[in-house]
Amino acid sequence: MSTIPVDRPVVDVDPLVSFDGADKVYSSGFRALAPIELRLPRAEITVLVGPSGCGKTTLLRMAAGLTTPTHGTVVRRTERMSYVFQDPTLLAWRSIRANVELVAKLQGVARQERRERARKAIELVGLAGFEKSYPRELSGGMRMRTSLARSLTSEPELLLMDEPFAALDEFNREKMGTELINLWRNRRVTVMFVTHSIAEAVRLGHQIAVLGTGPGHLVRLLRSPSPPAAQPSAERDDAALAHLRADISTMLGGGGI
Ligand SMILES: Nc1ncnc2c1ncn2[C@@H]1O[C@H](COP(=O)(O)OP(=O)(O)OP(=O)(O)O)[C@@H](O)[C@H]1O
Ligand SMILES: [Mg+2]
Repeated sequence: MSTIPVDRPVVDVDPLVSFDGADKVYSSGFRALAPIELRLPRAEITVLVGPSGCGKTTLLRMAAGLTTPTHGTVVRRTERMSYVFQDPTLLAWRSIRANVELVAKLQGVARQERRERARKAIELVGLAGFEKSYPRELSGGMRMRTSLARSLTSEPELLLMDEPFAALDEFNREKMGTELINLWRNRRVTVMFVTHSIAEAVRLGHQIAVLGTGPGHLVRLLRSPSPPAAQPSAERDDAALAHLRADISTMLGGGGI
């Protein structure tokens, strides 16, 4: 088995989402994305990493059908999806539990069932005991975790996540990463995950799409040498992952992004 990261083999006959020559010129005339070829394999985590303005959110919105490509196509082969926005977008006048139940409620899930799903999701994100609190009473990180719990109650097949852990401190970020990996492992969910953090990209991704700017484009699509593992990054720090991090850092021009 090779220990060096390799580009993903081109054959994937049945991806959950495909971008085929999808580009984006906004109505202002601004060209945000050059044509992109990208497949999201089922039951895998695909991470998008790249500098601000390279079109990560645009790609996520295209996958969700919230934005259409100007040319080319985006095909999503499921309706069961959840979107975790860059901001937590909670309803201020609803309790944490009511916020978490909201998506399932809108989907018509019966009361008892959605209460049970909400209970599990709240526990999963470490907010048990805060069910009756209101968003204003929580920290930014706790609000983000509420938003994450809400996205889980619809039991999605596709989870679209826009920098979901960016507002968390290092400890909770690591913990939520572990929860995401557990979720992927237990439910075989397909994830499209945006981050600015190379370390997070390498920890979570089966494949990592490295993006560049001017206009946004795919620099490389990398395959991780090992599947995401639940143990903390520090305990798993093998040479192949360190190599992958260094490669991505070089592709992104050295310094931070
Ligand atoms: N509705 C819009 N109209 C015009 N330009 C837009 C629109 N939305 C985004 N853009 C531009 O398209 C480019 C890509 O934006 P996008 O939000 O996808 O980037 P991003 O990679 O998610 O950035 P960040 O890391 O800062 O969130 C940016 O230059 C942005 O200014
Ligand atoms: Mg963005």
